[in-house]
Amino acid sequence: MKKTLFAITIGCATALTTMLTAPTSAGAAGLTAPTQQITIQGKKPARFNHGTHTALGLECGACHHDQEHQPRNAEAIGAMAPEQLKCAGCHNKDFKNSKLQKPSQIFHAKCKECHNAGYNDKKGPTKCAGCHLAKGKQAIEGC
Ligand code: HEC
Ligand code: HEC
Ligand code: HEC
Ligand code: HEC
Repeated sequence: MKKTLFAITIGCATALTTMLTAPTSAGAAGLTAPTQQITIQGKKPARFNHGTHTALGLECGACHHDQEHQPRNAEAIGAMAPEQLKCAGCHNKDFKNSKLQKPSQIFHAKCKECHNAGYNDKKGPTKCAGCHLAKGKQAIEGC
């Protein structure tokens, strides 16, 4: 029960933050990455924390790119709605490269490979539970 409540709290907090920051995202406030941990939704939801990654010195464009696969900088991102930043907006069954259509393909390539190789002498989690939320923490009903 405690765990469920915790998950719900995190979920609501994330949703609330998105709502609160959304109206200002076209202005200067949009230039910074979300400070709360976000959940990447899908068949097997995973956690992602921008702060951990920007603290490593990673540019936004290390993960966010445009339709030409050119890196997006904080300014370009600030002018976009969060919805437009969804990786699956491009990487879906219609994507030209069949090896980059499914969430597991793009995220495991992007996230796991760096975690395995390491960055600035630090390694990230490579075990499933290091990124994926435990079952039961997935549903954020009522939020
Ligand atoms: C470095 C982080 C990370 C690790 C480690 C990781 N995953 Fe994932 N995985 C993700 C992300 C992010 C997604 C996208 C969320 C989603 O689609 O549900 C994802 C998606 C998936 C999906 C959904 C497949 C699809 O295409 O819809 C499955 C299944 C999956 N992972 C299984 C695993 C298994 C099994 C392991 C361990 C062997 C693992 N993952 C380890 C980050 C990770
Ligand atoms: C290590 C990879 C990575 C880096 C670096 C990164 N992001 Fe993200 N960002 C993501 C992922 C993954 C998502 C979720 C996309 C999805 O759900 O499909 C995301 C989502 C977002 C969102 C939408 C949040 C929401 O709640 O939907 C914003 C805004 C954002 N990023 C801004 C930034 C900015 C600004 C920077 C640079 C300062 C940055 N990001 C750097 C991976 C990254
Ligand atoms: C506006 C469309 C678009 C969005 C949004 C997008 N991508 Fe891509 N992505 C591309 C294109 C185009 C390529 C190049 C494909 C090729 O060379 O076959 C690519 C290539 C990739 C690759 C393979 C090359 C590499 O960089 O390792 C990965 C992995 C990837 N994207 C992950 C992501 C992730 C994760 C997100 C969300 C943070 C994302 N993409 C958002 C269009 C997009
Ligand atoms: C370019 C390298 C790189 C990329 C890309 C990257 N990570 Fe990481 N990640 C790291 C490193 C290094 C750490 C360990 C940081 C530390 O120990 O301070 C880490 C830590 C983490 C952690 C554990 C700490 C925390 O923030 O909760 C999670 C979860 C995580 N990454 C998820 C992801 C997901 C999901 C993606 C893809 C959307 C991703 N990472 C992309 C390098 C990367």
